[in-house]
Amino acid sequence: MAPRPIIIDTDPGQDDAIAILLALASPELDVLGITAVAGNVPLALTEQNARKVCELAGRAETNVFAGCARPMLRPLVTAENVHGRTGLDGPDLPAPTMPLRDRHAVDWLVETLMAAPDGEITLCPIGPLTNIATAIVREPRILPKIREIVLMGGGFFEGGNTTPTAEFNIYVDPHAAHVVIDSGVKLTMMPLDVTHRALMRHDWIERIDRLGTPVGKAAAAMMSFYERFDMEKYGEAGGPLHDPCVIAYLLRPELFQGKDCNVVVETGSELTMGMTVVDWWDVTDRPANCRVMNRIDADGFFGLILERLGRL
Ligand code: RIB
Ligand code: CA
Repeated sequence: MAPRPIIIDTDPGQDDAIAILLALASPELDVLGITAVAGNVPLALTEQNARKVCELAGRAETNVFAGCARPMLRPLVTAENVHGRTGLDGPDLPAPTMPLRDRHAVDWLVETLMAAPDGEITLCPIGPLTNIATAIVREPRILPKIREIVLMGGGFFEGGNTTPTAEFNIYVDPHAAHVVIDSGVKLTMMPLDVTHRALMRHDWIERIDRLGTPVGKAAAAMMSFYERFDMEKYGEAGGPLHDPCVIAYLLRPELFQGKDCNVVVETGSELTMGMTVVDWWDVTDRPANCRVMNRIDADGFFGLILERLGRL
């Protein structure tokens, strides 16, 4: 079977980095390109971090583009308190030598999608949705070109991780999230309700470190750095591996469970700005517009990550 063409839109971020490594290690996927967006840290760092991770994976030929440097309307909010000053604290990765492609990510997204057959390309946003929404607003004709959008973002019964009601990716650019969720494209959402069930236990991190490879050592260092914030906050025995859930779903969807729901993004109230209002119990007459995941086989998820990182 031909590999599935995907585009990863990302704000690395240690968990983004694990997602990128998982995708690059998986022959079932054809990573057409990686588009960086401002989020965890400013764009100048997220694009560098994306290239650092590609070189760590031995995939310096990967197309990496820089996209939007700020949300559509709101000022940028970053998360150095979680990811460190560089956004990729933990390992000491060398400055990238591979080139950043000289097209703006949004221009490349539109051009690539418009040149593809309908329904061919899967978009995998794992940061704020600014690039994706800007491409949709710029050229709505890309919508039938998109096979599916599988995104990490949102939360419902789990609430938020940035405000009491909003998850970071949605909170940073709620207007972009509204454009994407309102687009009519086939959507699958990995909210905190599922990613908080994918906690990096210390024995997981030790087994990744024991791969003994540069990728294993770097991934373990990233996870060890990144987990501390959530462990202190939630008192859990490990930090959540948010973004790799998107790639794992493409590889082994049977690891996940969820249901089709209506999802609406709050963009009016400052109190609940960026909240994903998920009609899980179908109490409104709003049509389902998203497959929302809330369960994961955590051991199967870790086994997939360990096996694939071992290939790099
Ligand atoms: O809320 C978790 C999300 O915000 C993840 O994508 C993480 O990388 C940050 O971007
Ligand atoms: Ca991210």
